Amino acid sequence: MPELIPSQRHLFDLPADIAYLNCAYMSPLLKRAAAVGAEAVGRKCQPWRISADDFFTDSERARALFAELLGAGADDIALVPAASYGLAVAAANLRVAPGRRIVVLAEQFPSNVYTWRALAARTGAEVVTIERAADGDWTRALLARLDERVAITAVPHCHWIDGGLLDLAAIGGRCRDVGSALVVDATQSLGALPLDLAAVRPDYLVCPGYKWLLGPYSLGYLYVAPAHQDGRPLEQNWIARAGSEDFARLIDYQDRYQPGARRFDVGERSNFALLPVGIVGLEQLLAWGVDRIAATLAAKTAVIAERAAGLGLRTGPAQLRAGHYLGLRFPGGAPPQLPERLAEQQVYVSVRGASLRVTPHLYNDEADIERLFAVLHAAL
Ligand SMILES: Cc1ncc(COP(=O)(O)O)c(C=O)c1O
Repeated sequence: MPELIPSQRHLFDLPADIAYLNCAYMSPLLKRAAAVGAEAVGRKCQPWRISADDFFTDSERARALFAELLGAGADDIALVPAASYGLAVAAANLRVAPGRRIVVLAEQFPSNVYTWRALAARTGAEVVTIERAADGDWTRALLARLDERVAITAVPHCHWIDGGLLDLAAIGGRCRDVGSALVVDATQSLGALPLDLAAVRPDYLVCPGYKWLLGPYSLGYLYVAPAHQDGRPLEQNWIARAGSEDFARLIDYQDRYQPGARRFDVGERSNFALLPVGIVGLEQLLAWGVDRIAATLAAKTAVIAERAAGLGLRTGPAQLRAGHYLGLRFPGGAPPQLPERLAEQQVYVSVRGASLRVTPHLYNDEADIERLFAVLHAAL
């Protein structure tokens, strides 16, 4: 069992009377990231301080840090602005014959559904949705539907609504057996839930930076397996071409790209304002260690789940739920005005229908949990 991490609230700008339990919505920035970001924005007031090297240094640093977090090489990573962009790269490069299947989960996040509906419409493929199993076991439900008809399996590591966990190593193995590509949306897991890349072997994996990577909005990452790195980028940007470091020779047009997955980088990926902010978040996660983060958050959600059970709120079985993620269901529906009551007491969680999504991070302390339960006690 990794050593648990004490509260890191002092590193964040969270007033004592705010209970922010909504990392799955978006994480707060570290105070240091905000300071670095202010400096980075300020540099654009004095553009002579932005050198040609700056077009590459932070991009490569962010790429390398994300790669380290994922257990990949820096060459395997592209910089993308959103999950949808990374998924679009995958959809543009994976081959699907008419009549083949693209498999997604019920109530999957829309960016990871619309992409595949559009591909299916373009190719004559069929999108097949795996329904939520009564026992909450997504892996079993999915494995039962993975056969030779499936061309693409596009799934998360844990379901964004309630943290329902998927065994990606088992799913990856089955995908390879039946000839399906595996596309992973790690938005709600990477940074808080360990992933064994060598065991999962996804074809593509996408992860925006603004949730569990403690980064800014509009800066994310796409892992592209080596077998796909000679693929077709969505756009043709000058910096993705070989030799773009030499600004004096940019019009010696090049057919070759920068190495690895860099060809898939979004245009203007050298985001001088956001990259330094994202880098601070990734450095901090690596310093804490994902194993320790995961163990600490699992301990926090276990306490919340147990207290919630005392109030009659239900969660799925712990072994089928990602440790950092909690979807609490009200058996008789959510109490009236719950969102308003929570907001009044400055308790920030997500209310979705009859369930309450509670996603803490290392900045949450016991006082936050007390504030949440004070509202729930009063409402139930
Ligand atoms: C599972 C999942 N994927 C992706 C996203 C974000 O998608 P995009 O980056 O396309 O806006 C979210 C945001 O809540 C999410 O929960």
